[in-house]
Amino acid sequence: MDPVQVLSLLLVLLSLGNCADTNKQRKDTAFEIYKKLFEVKRKDQINALNNLIELNDVNQQYKIIDIMLKGLFKVLEDSRAILIAAGVQPDSPFPVDEKIKDAYSHTVENSAFFGDVVLRFPKIVHHYFDRNSNWNNLIRWGIGFCNLSGIFDDGPHSQLLGLMSQELGISEKSPDYRNPFRTENMEMPFRKR
Ligand SMILES: *[C@@H]1O[C@H](CO)[C@@H](O)[C@H](O)[C@H]1NC(C)=O
Repeated sequence: MDPVQVLSLLLVLLSLGNCADTNKQRKDTAFEIYKKLFEVKRKDQINALNNLIELNDVNQQYKIIDIMLKGLFKVLEDSRAILIAAGVQPDSPFPVDEKIKDAYSHTVENSAFFGDVVLRFPKIVHHYFDRNSNWNNLIRWGIGFCNLSGIFDDGPHSQLLGLMSQELGISEKSPDYRNPFRTENMEMPFRKR
């Protein structure tokens, strides 16, 4: 993977780019519109992640995930600061202000994306995540925010928050917990019994 490809991957993953303009929309439909954008964003993220899986080079995957997680948690930290300063709750009306709207969408998108990464690359993510209490705090907050946002209540992502919480050790693993990507990923580590 050359640097340009790495960069474009990172841009997709970290939601640093385009944000659709919902200003002109009526306020009560802004949330529904955002949910559709969220689905589009999720597809891009999962495509990018599939490219990372297909790399089939564990050393490169470690390096890219290291850079990615640093960026991801920086975005999450900044977004949390903005949302808290503005007093935005996850179930508040969908924000109209551009900066707050970006913070909101970056929070749910990056939290969801982190879930994708930890389920597909558990060994690599645990390597970096398990010794970082700041990241642990941030993602606990992010998962809580997502949970109350209503965005994950139904549809294809309804399992994600529960699965990632269990994989990260944030909530207790239920006896029938199973990482759904376990068999697809060569990198898969120790089988926990
Ligand atoms: C989401 O919130 C509900 C209700 O507060 C809680 O029971 C559940 O454990 C939460 N899920 C996650 C993944 O945090």
